[in-house]
Amino acid sequence: MGLSDRPRVTYGRDVACIATVERIALAPGQLEHLTLEARLPTLPQAFDGLRVGFVTDLHYSLRAPLHRHLVTWVAERDVDLWLVGGDLYESAQGEGRLAEVCEGLSAPLGRYVVPGNNDNRVFRASGGPSHAFERLGLMPLVNVGLRLEREGGSIWLAGTDDPSRARDDLDSALRGSREGEFVLLLSHAPDVIFRAAARALPLVLCGHTHGGQVRLPGIGALWAGTRTRGCGRKMAAGAVGAGETAMWVSRGTGDSLLPFRFLCPAEVTTVILRSGGPR
Ligand SMILES: [Fe+2]
Repeated sequence: MGLSDRPRVTYGRDVACIATVERIALAPGQLEHLTLEARLPTLPQAFDGLRVGFVTDLHYSLRAPLHRHLVTWVAERDVDLWLVGGDLYESAQGEGRLAEVCEGLSAPLGRYVVPGNNDNRVFRASGGPSHAFERLGLMPLVNVGLRLEREGGSIWLAGTDDPSRARDDLDSALRGSREGEFVLLLSHAPDVIFRAAARALPLVLCGHTHGGQVRLPGIGALWAGTRTRGCGRKMAAGAVGAGETAMWVSRGTGDSLLPFRFLCPAEVTTVILRSGGPR
C-alpha cells in the first residue's frame, strides 16, 4: 500500500471498536488509570473478557518518575496478560528500579515487551535490549509472534521492533499465524498503523508519544514525535483508526527531552477485549 492509497485515518472516540473509556486518577494531575473496552467482531469467544495490562514509556534512568505509584499499581492488577510497549530505559542505570516494577507483572498468559527507540539506543553497543528485557523477566517480541491459547481458542500475539525508526517488520511478526487468525499487535510507536491497516489487523497497542507531554485546552498536543508526517499531534494519544484497524496510543508513564508534563498526565491502561461488534 503506497502513500496515496493509505486508508482514511480517524481520531478519538469515533473509532468503532473502542466502546468505553473510564479514567481514575491514581495521583491527581500526574497519573491516570484508563480502562478501555474494545469490541472486536473477529475475537474468538474464548478470549471474550480477556484483561490486558498495558504499560509503556517508563524512561527509567537514575530518575524514575512515579516509581512508587507504578510498583503499587502493577502489583495490585488482576489481568490475564501483561504487555509493555517499550522505552523502559532512558539509561542502563534504570535497571534496578525497572526490576521492582516488573516483579509485579504477574499474569497467566505471560508478560511481553517490544523495544522502543531509547531501549535500542541504550543497548546499541551490547547487541540490543533483548537480554536486558529477559533479565527483567519479560519476553521480548522483536518482529516475532506467538500463539496464545485459552479455553480451547487461540489468538496470535505479534510484536515488532520500533516503528519510529522504521525497524518494524510485520511480515516477520505474523509468520506462523494462521489464515484469518485474530492478531493482537504490540508495537512501540503509532507509525505502524498504516502497515497494520494494510493487513486488516484488528487491534494495535502502542505508546512512544507521551501524549505530546505538553497539551493545551482545545488544542491538544503541541507536538508529538511520530515518523509519519502530519499525523504526530493527532496520533499523540487515545484511539486512532485506519481501515479495519483500531489502535490505542497510551500516553505512557515517563518523559524524555522535557523533564515534565503539562495537562498531560501519565497513563497506565487496562484493555478489556470483547468478542462482538461495536455498540
Ligand atoms: Fe519512544
